[in-house]
Amino acid sequence: MSMDKKFLILVLAGTTRVQRQSFKAAQYVAKVGETYPELEIELVDPENFNFPGDGNDPEGKDPRYSELTAKADGFFIVTPEYNHSFPGSLKRMLDSELENYIHKPVAIAGASNGGWGGVRAVESLVPTVREMGLAVTFTSAYFPRVQDAFDADGNPVDERTETGVRRAYDELIWMTKTLKYGRDNVK
Ligand SMILES: Cc1cc2nc3c(=O)[nH]c(=O)nc-3n(C[C@H](O)[C@H](O)[C@H](O)COP(=O)(O)O)c2cc1C
Repeated sequence: MSMDKKFLILVLAGTTRVQRQSFKAAQYVAKVGETYPELEIELVDPENFNFPGDGNDPEGKDPRYSELTAKADGFFIVTPEYNHSFPGSLKRMLDSELENYIHKPVAIAGASNGGWGGVRAVESLVPTVREMGLAVTFTSAYFPRVQDAFDADGNPVDERTETGVRRAYDELIWMTKTLKYGRDNVK
């Protein structure tokens, strides 16, 4: 496979909450992604999009999100945990598309203010993205105590954070290449 074209990974932030802490995790995931020469990274903030109503009818889409997801080769969702699930704004954004996800990979990272790192949000997102035709990686990343996880420059205070994110990227990149080959070549 030619490697001259980079693979586009959308890093999807999971919430529009004004005081959101998990956005720092999404920014960090995007920053780590930019260190891989074969990847092009776009951080997608649901705050910057408008999805009127519900569903995926033409009037419920944001054309910029449609364009981005059509071009994307893979996704890395960074979701906080709200009431043992993922936020409604993330669901609303994901729901607005369908065909653009099919046979593309997704890695998921969770975040929470406690010690579990959003594990229930990640697990509750798995059946949702599967229904959308996305292929979920088996390596997730977690940001426990996300409000204290980054210094003023946005770097993680715990060195294990980078290891976890890179482990997730390793698998996401393998699946991105494999599924891109499949979409282009396997009938
Ligand atoms: C509506 C709401 C529900 C929450 N429910 C949970 C929960 O079920 N489990 C949990 O570990 N943390 C829960 N939290 C705490 C979040 O993990 C914490 O606020 C975290 O910073 C959320 O990410 P955010 O700051 O990006 O919104 C909840 C927070 C909010 C705002």
